[in-house]
Amino acid sequence: MTRRIGATLAPHRVICFRSMTLMPEDPPGSRRPRQTGDDQGTDLPYPEGWFCLALSRELAPGRVLTRRLAGEDVVVYRTRDGQAYAVRPYCPHLGAHLGAGGTVEGRNLVCPFHRFAFAGDGRCVATPAGPPPRARLAHHTVLERDGFVFVWRGPDGTPPGWEVPGTAQALVVPTASWRTEVRTHAQEIIENTLDYRHLPVLHHVAVREVDPPTVEGPFLRMRLRLGPDRPAVLKRWIEADHSFLMAGLGCLRVEFALPSLGLVSYLWAMHTPVGPRRTQLLVATACVDGREPAGAGPSLLRRPLHRAFARAMLWIAVSKVRQDLTIWNAKRYEPRPRLAVGDETIGYFRRWARQFYGTARSHGG
Ligand code: FES
Ligand SMILES: [Fe+2]
Repeated sequence: MTRRIGATLAPHRVICFRSMTLMPEDPPGSRRPRQTGDDQGTDLPYPEGWFCLALSRELAPGRVLTRRLAGEDVVVYRTRDGQAYAVRPYCPHLGAHLGAGGTVEGRNLVCPFHRFAFAGDGRCVATPAGPPPRARLAHHTVLERDGFVFVWRGPDGTPPGWEVPGTAQALVVPTASWRTEVRTHAQEIIENTLDYRHLPVLHHVAVREVDPPTVEGPFLRMRLRLGPDRPAVLKRWIEADHSFLMAGLGCLRVEFALPSLGLVSYLWAMHTPVGPRRTQLLVATACVDGREPAGAGPSLLRRPLHRAFARAMLWIAVSKVRQDLTIWNAKRYEPRPRLAVGDETIGYFRRWARQFYGTARSHGG
């Protein structure tokens, strides 16, 4: 049955990484990563949490999409009245794939094989001839936030204990996006954000920690001042404080303000494990007016500026991601990295990341 998450979720304890032991460890016991060949290193299981399967704008009313999550197809659709759902792909009647020709009729998803219709709660509610059988489609829990459609991946139907937080500004949705598939684990991609040492080396970006990483349950936050590491004259114009929020291993949001332009910008990186050592990476950007009251929306005159700025930000971000891709696509996961001074945030991140492998049984590689 479809579950929509409620507002009452467990509170989380805030822990700053300066107060913790920083040695990374393998996930223990049943979570132990799987050993593979030497050149492959060690595989991580598929993580639990919220994972983005589509941009909201890709899922117009009546649209049916097939996406991959953790080695399985997921069929995502939107009813004519605007509600998004995600279901397991196979019809309980005779096993047709609902993403291969399934249609939305009103509030129902209709199978392409014999036209059995399924309501939003998964029940079979109609057939072309005769009463429907007692049959139900298996659903994923869906969360739609800031223009992204997420589904919950938890152990054996466990409902979500947390949500992906929305932006402070209402009505922020990405206006530019790019995606690619990476031959690595979702954890490896998000770890990159806490690997300060690679920023000047690979990306020619200078980094200064403004607020150290802090964890609060499934969330990890930090604030960094980022800018070009040369020339210095550009720094005062381009250098800006970036607030990072990681919501599980599937979602990274970066927010930074440019007061001189009256803008607040958002960048999202969504990491969705799709198969063994394969992660769908979606990068998206948006820009809003930092001078207007939240939710007021931009003036018509400034809207093109916002879109142009978001596109430029995406172009810069993608150029940096392409530099990472050369590393990610060839590297292997090191379960016991030999960390050096300056790598403390990596150990801290790995300890935090362990919670997302609590009870998952299938493996990502
Ligand atoms: S297989 Fe879906 S209605 Fe028959
Ligand atoms: Fe990077």
